[in-house]
Amino acid sequence: MTHLELMKDIYYVGYIDWEVRNFHGYSTHRGSSYNAYIVKGEKTVLIDAVKRPYFESFLKSIKAVCDPAEIDYYITNHVEMDHSGSFPLIIKHLPNAELIASQRGVDALKAHFHEEVEEDLFNKIRAVKEGDTLDIGNGKKFTFVPIPMIHWPDSMVSFMSDENGKNVLFCNDAFGQHYATSKRWDDENDLCEVMEEAEKYYANILLHLSGLIAKALPKVGALPIDIICPSHGVCWRSNIGKIIDAYKKWSAGEIDKNSVLIVYDTMWESTSKIAKALFKEISHRSIPVKRYRLTNADYSDVITEAMKARAILVGSPTLNNGLYPTVAEYLSYQKGLKPMNKIGLAFGSYGWGGGAVKEIAEIMKATKIDVLDETIEIKFVPKPEDLDFKEIIDKLIEKMG
Ligand code: FEO
Repeated sequence: MTHLELMKDIYYVGYIDWEVRNFHGYSTHRGSSYNAYIVKGEKTVLIDAVKRPYFESFLKSIKAVCDPAEIDYYITNHVEMDHSGSFPLIIKHLPNAELIASQRGVDALKAHFHEEVEEDLFNKIRAVKEGDTLDIGNGKKFTFVPIPMIHWPDSMVSFMSDENGKNVLFCNDAFGQHYATSKRWDDENDLCEVMEEAEKYYANILLHLSGLIAKALPKVGALPIDIICPSHGVCWRSNIGKIIDAYKKWSAGEIDKNSVLIVYDTMWESTSKIAKALFKEISHRSIPVKRYRLTNADYSDVITEAMKARAILVGSPTLNNGLYPTVAEYLSYQKGLKPMNKIGLAFGSYGWGGGAVKEIAEIMKATKIDVLDETIEIKFVPKPEDLDFKEIIDKLIEKMG
């Protein structure tokens, strides 16, 4: 057994990225990994690849498992560059491999690598559709199931049934976590950390696709899965039910029914005073409430809280008749990810003319957040009597149900 052997006939040849702290704008406090696997039956299969800068390490890992020329199939489950960046490089080392992807995967590979790869090669990729199979011998058979938009239109899972071993779902982004660790399995790591990162991953990558995920989960759940091997973070063997249940909950928009999130920024402390007074009023009623000032918090952490909260209160000072930049950035992110089942409240301060509060309410309404008609807008510095929010919090709580 080499250090790369996950289990009998399955090897890990991905790259653990201990250094990444920003994954296209998503803060990866615990690093990440780009997982790729080799499966050996009578035939040998490579599943997915890694980001291009880590190609040499990827190739070295493959060579520690087998001669790349012995690889018979190379499956690309998803074409985003964190998995396919090495595609043009690795195929040069796979003279005997048939390439496999979904039809949309073939199109996406061509769209990404047309400058580096001969046109003819794209025409030779086997485009698989739902239910297509690949028998690699020794009782191992792959079944391909496209899962469009989880994460991209091209995404698919490769399910391997094994008559002599465990059934494994190679599912790429689904069930992943941005989590660097020297241990490959869920039960070898701190499960709280793993679930925290799985939740953050869902909130930042998949949340806006929840409707499609809810539809795809029964399809995936019907497979007799023993092991889940995603393309980021740890593999699941002891907590499969837990991660699938979590996906059911997140994709259904289940929330902490009674919790409030306050997100804001402040220029000269007036909006901060409003945020703190709102926080005090809510916490006095024993309602769980969290407060984030955006200058000191990153939006990928905040959106994870937003996914779970029942009410989101967003505050901004008016700057140049509009939103404070950090609030505009956060709201743009939140708008794209479309958190579900939310009540909203807009608040803020202004000098001579307002604007920010109206914009907050409009942006939140655009993603079906049920925003209170009442807003809080205070000119310059709030007086103590301006900070009495009993009435508006009563209304908020009534709306929260
Ligand atoms: Fe990990 Fe959608 O790429």
